[in-house]
Amino acid sequence: MNKKLFGLLSLLVIASLALAACGAPPTPAPTGTPAATEAPGATEAPAATEAPATAGQVEVFSWWTGGGEAAGLEAMIGVFAEDYPDVEFINAAVAGGAGTNARAVLATRLQAGDPPDSWQGHAGQELIGTYVAGSQIEPLNDLYEAEGWLAVMPETLIPLISADGNIYSVPVNIHRANVLWYNPTVLAANEVEVPTTIDEWFAAMNKLQAAGVQPLALGEQWTKLHLFETVLLGTLGADAYNGLWDGSTNWGSPEVRIALENFATALSYANSDSASLTWQDASQLVVNGDAAFNVMGDWAEGYFRELGMAPNTDYGWAATPGSDGVFQFLSDSFVLAVGAPDPEAATAWLKVAGSKEGQEAFNPVKGSICARTDCDTSLFGEYLQSAMDDWASNIVVGSLTHGVVANDSWKTEIDTALGLFLADGNVDNFQAALVAACASSGACQ
Ligand code: GAL
Repeated sequence: MNKKLFGLLSLLVIASLALAACGAPPTPAPTGTPAATEAPGATEAPAATEAPATAGQVEVFSWWTGGGEAAGLEAMIGVFAEDYPDVEFINAAVAGGAGTNARAVLATRLQAGDPPDSWQGHAGQELIGTYVAGSQIEPLNDLYEAEGWLAVMPETLIPLISADGNIYSVPVNIHRANVLWYNPTVLAANEVEVPTTIDEWFAAMNKLQAAGVQPLALGEQWTKLHLFETVLLGTLGADAYNGLWDGSTNWGSPEVRIALENFATALSYANSDSASLTWQDASQLVVNGDAAFNVMGDWAEGYFRELGMAPNTDYGWAATPGSDGVFQFLSDSFVLAVGAPDPEAATAWLKVAGSKEGQEAFNPVKGSICARTDCDTSLFGEYLQSAMDDWASNIVVGSLTHGVVANDSWKTEIDTALGLFLADGNVDNFQAALVAACASSGACQ
């Protein structure tokens, strides 16, 4: 739907509301209804003046099956079940952090013309450069209008979920990617301060390593891509980091080279079994006291809470080294599939996902802050309160791993380059592959 059409539809809605207010005649009963089928004495106003309850089935696709994540989703499903008791919720979540497995399954289903009604997609290039570009999701302008969401969703988020005047998803949260989680007891026992720069971080990890402590906990490959984006940010700063995605920072520059070397150094402090660990396994090493640091998005906090860990005692947090004052964000959002089997039930789900009640149930458990600006902040714990302050006051940049700054094909090329680098450790080849990935994305000429 283009802008004009959207404007026209809004006018139509207003006109029909005005007509209703003027006491427009009720819609006549459908012709051909035999009078004999009317119940005797049915002269009162038919119950049909009440909107029929939404029924049917909604299949919702995500990757929230694991620690912290499933519980958040369940909390929102609870609100949905209360609001729409006649709609069956089919939870089609596929396990695997960051959607690495789920998104492959989703792509296969979309290709086969078998979409779930709604799925989780990241605001930004993942949404616009992948699903919108592929004509796989429907515009939601009328729903935004009806629910008044433009007044309660952050203005800065709307462009990241819009194309050609259409809005394409319902954001449920804001997550922060650049968080350094640490074990306060392990740091104190080794007289290590929380590092704020990359050099301080490496000095701290040297000291920990010398004391026989595992400095850094890492998991499977996507957690390394996640670490990589935070090291790029911490080394380059917000402006030059942003420039990587619009062609104004040269991927072949000496500054990027330093970032790649920093990344290689950071990797050298990681556990040797990282490839076989999930993000939960890796972050748990920190709260268990088996490692000092972990770089992970703040869904880790949802997991720590689920494990019964206490903020500032079992875990502490800081911006990843070099990125204080910068909030590297991502936003989970839900879409309406083109060809959704049950668009009405899907719309009911989207209404809950965008509602205050739905977001207040979901986010304190998930470890994220509301996308909506009107949630009750007292529902959130200490970490999330600090994330709210930072979201409001920091410079905001987008995450690579979680879909904000690069579309799927560019991200996949970067991830392939990373995979080769993890195998051969060759910084020259890594940088050349990153230069090539930017060129083939069209962002760097
Ligand atoms: C991200 C997603 C988060 C969290 C994380 C780990 O991509 O946005 O909500 O689920 O993956 O699985």
